[in-house]
Amino acid sequence: MQPGRADHRLVQSQMCRIVLERTRMNNDLIYQSSDLMLDRLPLATIARKYGTPVYVYSASSIRGQVTRLMQSLGTIGSLRYAVKANGNPALLALIFSMGIGADTVSRGEIQAALDARCPADRIVFSGVGKTPDELAFALDHGIFINAESEEELTAIARLRAGAHVGIRINPGVDARTHHYITTGTEENKFGIPVDAAPDAFRLAMDAGLVPDTISCHIGSQITSLEPYRKSLARLLELHDSLMGDGIPVSSLDIGGGFGINYGEGADFAVEDLQALLRRDVPQGMKLWFEPGRYIVGHAGTLVTRVLYRKRYARTFVIVDAGMNDLIRPALYQAHHAILPVTRRDAEPTPCDIVGPVCESADCFDRDVPMPLPEQGDLLAICDTGAYGWSMSSTYNGRPLLPEVLIEDGEPVLIRERGL
Ligand code: LLP
Repeated sequence: MQPGRADHRLVQSQMCRIVLERTRMNNDLIYQSSDLMLDRLPLATIARKYGTPVYVYSASSIRGQVTRLMQSLGTIGSLRYAVKANGNPALLALIFSMGIGADTVSRGEIQAALDARCPADRIVFSGVGKTPDELAFALDHGIFINAESEEELTAIARLRAGAHVGIRINPGVDARTHHYITTGTEENKFGIPVDAAPDAFRLAMDAGLVPDTISCHIGSQITSLEPYRKSLARLLELHDSLMGDGIPVSSLDIGGGFGINYGEGADFAVEDLQALLRRDVPQGMKLWFEPGRYIVGHAGTLVTRVLYRKRYARTFVIVDAGMNDLIRPALYQAHHAILPVTRRDAEPTPCDIVGPVCESADCFDRDVPMPLPEQGDLLAICDTGAYGWSMSSTYNGRPLLPEVLIEDGEPVLIRERGL
């Protein structure tokens, strides 16, 4: 046996076990004999019908994640889905129909939420660089704004005296996630440092606003409770000092960031956050949450077809999806499990799964242990429901991908392939 072979086989069997465990939890992706099924439909059938590459989503996975959140955090506060994770209109309609509001960061996202029948009073408008037009649009529609700077507060006060606002605080806490998606330290552009916050609340009051919410979002794909614990302690200290100064703050927006398992470990334990908040937050204080990834991340699978193989120093498997369709591996060195849609009975070999885009960063993963796929085989890139399609582009003149939702065992085309 060649050195390394046994390791790869071990890794592959571990990976399959992990995938099976994960799928048992989410009841979405699972092998039936050698065919990979999403919600009991063979992914190969969907690829044949809609072509590749294609994003396929499971409605039941989304419902399961929303239900999990409702049963934990929903019992102590209100949920707002971060639209940026995936703004497909059909998915928004599904999520809002379950009673969740929207966290938005642009006029386009606000409009998308309204179009998907999210009531205006359940929408929050966040973001560090809102334009005057966007602020006016939000205020005209009665949408709550989380302000991120003193100058933004002044701009809001000029547009609408008496508006209720939140002020985003930067608590100076490292969320211990990829540095591109860490937002709560003094190195990050977001929010107002906690030490400067009392002055910002005072400024808002003096300008005629009603700053009734402390808001915060410390980062994304957070896997442990610790950063939330630290940040909560600072926010509650701030709350006490504001109350002492006669500034009545009634709500706390904890933000999103709840990480999911991308093939190993577990999803963020929302129940632990619930317990922490139940214990520490004063009675009567309203809580808000803004999860994105947790709701849609597991639901999505990117199905791609093998175009060519090249075996020299490395084994390259060239597929028809590229970094323009899913940028997470290239941008954040993110790991997404990659599985054959039809399992072959052969020894696994380490494969580099790469796309057609003219950049060496266009690589979904290296050394993926799998039996060498044949030309025309399909591969599934897992857990791509969040920040997949929504971050895609037409780089290299490539069309935007179609999206298919599996609902009650039936595939529905929810976005056509772009031109
Ligand atoms: N609230 C605010 C103010 C945010 O900026 C974000 C995400 C969220 C909520 C939702 O965070 P989530 O629950 O989805 O972690 N493109 C990156 C993630 C960027 C997140 C940006 N802000 C990725 O693919 O990992």
